[in-house]
Amino acid sequence: MAILNIRIIGDPVLRTVADPVTEFGPELAKLVADMTETMEDVDGAGLAAPQIGVSKRIFTYRIDGVEGHIINPVLENSEDYQPDHVEGCLSIPGLGFPVRRFRATRITGVDMHGNPVSIDAEGMLARCFQHENDHLDGILYTDRLEGEDRKAALRSIRNAKYDAVTERTTAKRAKSVGSSFGGASFGGTSTPGSSFGAAG
Ligand code: NI
Repeated sequence: MAILNIRIIGDPVLRTVADPVTEFGPELAKLVADMTETMEDVDGAGLAAPQIGVSKRIFTYRIDGVEGHIINPVLENSEDYQPDHVEGCLSIPGLGFPVRRFRATRITGVDMHGNPVSIDAEGMLARCFQHENDHLDGILYTDRLEGEDRKAALRSIRNAKYDAVTERTTAKRAKSVGSSFGGASFGGTSTPGSSFGAAG
């Protein structure tokens, strides 16, 4: 297994709609294993394949001890929303803003062997699924912000010089990205503002 480098905002792969997985075999199993190891290494709540430069519809997740992966996910969201909660993203280091998400979601897809998966999620797990699924459509959580939060996020992104971060992170293990903002995991007991900290 291997720890993978995490792509940072500004990388076009994060803005690309990912392709469905069509081949199920040892290569896919290795990718899922490496993504899982990378997510654990940065103490993240989730990791989508585009974040490690693979434009495929795959993500891993880890919320409150529930860990897994989903391939070719489809979400059926509730019509109502859950209370806003701060999210962060490994691809936008150091930032966190409250995001509006649907209260519940039913996710269906397959696992690495092609076997069907269906999970009814609420709360943080539902939030994680929505955040990670967005990555597969080239959407970042900051796109979901409105008003002052959106302005503040865009300003922070402009000022953060992520181009330089990208250069640094390609030279370092992904772990340095996580630890640079505390490695707090989504849904953990960490400080407010970093609670989706090393999310996805
Ligand atoms: Ni993310």
